[in-house]
Amino acid sequence: MQDLKVLSPEEIKGLDEPRISPSQNQTDFSKKIYLESYGCQMNFADSEVVTSILMEQGYSTTSNIHEADTILLNTCAIRENAEQKIRHRLQSFKPIKAKNPHITVGILGCMAERLKTKLLEEEKIVDLVAGPDAYRDLPRLLEEIEDGNKAVNVFLSREETYGNIEPVRLHTNGVTALVSIMRGCNNMCSFCVVPYTRGRERSRDLDSILKECTSLFEAGYREVTLLGQNVDSYHWQNPETNQSINFAQLLEKVAQLTPELRVRFSTSHPKDITNDVLYTMSKYGNICKNIHLPAQSGNNRILDLMNRTYTREWYLERIHSIRQILGESCGISHDFIAGFCSETEEEHQDSLSLLEEVKYDFGYMFSYSERPGTPAEKKLADDIPEETKKRRLQEIIDLQRIHSAYRNQQMIGSIQRVLVEGDSKKSSAHHFGRTDNNKVVVFPKNDEMKGKFVDVKITHCTSGTLLGELIN
Ligand code: SAH
Ligand code: SF4
Ligand code: F3S
Repeated sequence: MQDLKVLSPEEIKGLDEPRISPSQNQTDFSKKIYLESYGCQMNFADSEVVTSILMEQGYSTTSNIHEADTILLNTCAIRENAEQKIRHRLQSFKPIKAKNPHITVGILGCMAERLKTKLLEEEKIVDLVAGPDAYRDLPRLLEEIEDGNKAVNVFLSREETYGNIEPVRLHTNGVTALVSIMRGCNNMCSFCVVPYTRGRERSRDLDSILKECTSLFEAGYREVTLLGQNVDSYHWQNPETNQSINFAQLLEKVAQLTPELRVRFSTSHPKDITNDVLYTMSKYGNICKNIHLPAQSGNNRILDLMNRTYTREWYLERIHSIRQILGESCGISHDFIAGFCSETEEEHQDSLSLLEEVKYDFGYMFSYSERPGTPAEKKLADDIPEETKKRRLQEIIDLQRIHSAYRNQQMIGSIQRVLVEGDSKKSSAHHFGRTDNNKVVVFPKNDEMKGKFVDVKITHCTSGTLLGELIN
C-alpha cells in the first residue's frame, strides 16, 4: 500500500522516514542507546522524553548503531506499511545481534502497544516491548533484560503525561521545538488504531507546559508546536483552584509568554475547533495562522461510516469561519483517506470536490489500510481493490498539487515574516525558514540569520516551496 503526500524536502520533518537520535555524552563509558523514531510528531516528542529518562539513569545515546548496547525503535502502527517497515528493519539487525548477542533490541511506541507480547513471539530478535505510557519504567525493564529475561510493559495509563520530564531535544535545529500538551484520544474514528495504542485522552498540566515553553525560549528557541491528537479537546483543571483551562485559553497563555516566541499547534478536529480558538489566533501576532484540519472524506455517508461525527456541510462551515476570522491567507492543510470501505466512485468524487472547494495549501493523503481491532475492521469489508485505492489516491494527490501551487502563487509579490531555521538543504548559500502560514521559503543569505525573524519578499514558487529575497 502506498502513502503519499505533497511535501517539499524541508517540510518532510521526518514524517515517513525514521530519525536516528544523535550522540550525546560521547566521551563517557556508560551504556549506549541507539534510538530510531518513526511515525507522527508525537512519537518524535516521545523519543525526547525517552532519551531524557534514560540519560537521567546514566545511559548515553549514540548515532552509530555498531557501538550501541541497546537498539530501540520507537514505532508507528497507523497503517500496515508502517509496521512492515519496522519488521524489515528488525531483519537488518540480525547480523549485528549475531556478532554481539548481548545487544538488546527494544520496540517502543504504538506497534509495541498494539502487538504486546505477540511481538516477542513473532520477532525473536526483540527483547523488550514498551508501550507509550511505560517509558518511566524503561530503566527497570532494561535491568530485567540484563538478568537474562525478556521485558514487557504495555500498561496504558489514564494519568501519565510525562509532564515533569524535561525532554532532551533530538535532531534539533535550535529554533523550533515540539511540546506535547496531551496524550491519547477519546474519539473513535472507525479506521484508526490510535485510541488502542495511545489510550484515553488526558491533558498535561498548564504550568509544566508554560515552564517548558519558557525554558525553550530562554535556550534560544523561537517556535513551539503544541501537540495532541485533538488539541481542541485540551482540558485541564487546576486541582487547587478548580479553574478549568480549555485549548483557546492555553493557546492564549502560551502566546502571552513573549511575542518573540511563535506558537503553532496540531491537530485540530473539525468537530471540536471553536471560534474562540480562531479569535485567539487572530488576537495574537505570534500565533501562526495555520490550521491542520483533517477532512478524511468529502462524502457524508463515508464520514458517517468513519465515525468522524461531522458532515461535509459542518466541515465547510468551519472552513468558512476560518476564512472569515483569519482571512484568505490563513494556511489550511488536510488529511484524506482514499478508498475507505465501500466508497463508490461518486463518493470519491465528493472528496475531490471538497478539495476543489477549499483549495488547501497542503495535505497528507493516504490510501485506506485496514487495522486489526478497529471498528472498521470488525464491522466493514475492506472491499476496494488495491489498484482502485491507488488510483483514487493519485487523483487526490494530483489535485492537491495544483492547489498547493495555486496557493503559493497567491503569495508572490507579498512580504512575509520568516523564522529562519537554517541552511537550505540544497545550497549553503541559501537559508530556509517558514512563513506564518507554514510555507517553506528559501532565499539567498547575506549573513548568519538562523533563529531570527526576517522579512522576505516572495518572488517565485514551486508547488512545495516559496523563493524570495531578503528586504531590509
Ligand atoms: N488525530 C489526527 C490524526 C491521527 S493519524 C486526526 O484526528 O486527524 C493521521 C492520519 O492518518 C489520519 O488523519 C488519517 O488520515 C490517517 N489514517 C489513520 N488511520 C488510517 C488507516 N487505517 N488507513 C489509512 N490512513 C489512516
Ligand atoms: Fe484517530 Fe480519530 Fe483520534 Fe485522530 S481523532 S487519533 S483519526 S481516532
Ligand atoms: Fe503512528 Fe502512533 Fe503517531 S500509530 S501516527 S506513532 S500516535
